[in-house]
Amino acid sequence: MAEIAPSILAADFANLQRDIEMLNASPADYIHVDVMDGMFVPNISFGIPVCEAINKHATKPLDVHLMIEQPDRYFESFKKAGAAGLTVHYEACPHLHRTVQHIKELDVLPGVALNPHTPVEVLSEILGDLSLVLIMSVNPGFGGQKFIQHTYQKIARLQSLKEKFGYTFKIEVDGGVNLDNAPLLIREGVNILVAGSFVFSSENPSKTIADLKNS
Ligand code: DX5
Ligand code: ZN
Repeated sequence: MAEIAPSILAADFANLQRDIEMLNASPADYIHVDVMDGMFVPNISFGIPVCEAINKHATKPLDVHLMIEQPDRYFESFKKAGAAGLTVHYEACPHLHRTVQHIKELDVLPGVALNPHTPVEVLSEILGDLSLVLIMSVNPGFGGQKFIQHTYQKIARLQSLKEKFGYTFKIEVDGGVNLDNAPLLIREGVNILVAGSFVFSSENPSKTIADLKNS
């Protein structure tokens, strides 16, 4: 059974408290918080004050996905704002080892995300330090995009590295996740499914979360 991290990016921002309370009462395992800076990705979402506001109402851990340049500048602030996990992009971090140690020193779970074109093998020297590897199944920046089929192969390769070396990180997939692709993603090794528009545009989001969990 997979864990589910609904992405708050697809919530109704004018009714955030209502949507967070819906997630609290649902079988969701985390709340996925997408931070975008308009530089690393071509879109701006929200930042630290909104994360803090979400944390005031959330009873589930905040899984914070930083789609930003030079993310190290904000780790302390996101920790204060309630982040349980901080995921940075491989493509945004030239000193990834230092960045990951910085997150660990704050007692926050370190994650690294890979864009669709980035092979999983680039993480081979750091996989043992990670709690989470996030495989992007769309190009980051927007919700509601189409799932990239090549993702299955990447997850299978990551899962075989994980087994070969006995690593303990979780594999998370993000972008275009729905009930059609969830079963195969889980079979290939995914532990956490992020889902935004599929959850929030459904008639009964809490039931959709339960369905994804049981898929
Ligand atoms: C995309 C974000 C995703 C996004 C997923 O850049 O990282 O977390 O919210 O949204 P859906 O599930 O709609 O593709
Ligand atoms: Zn995300």
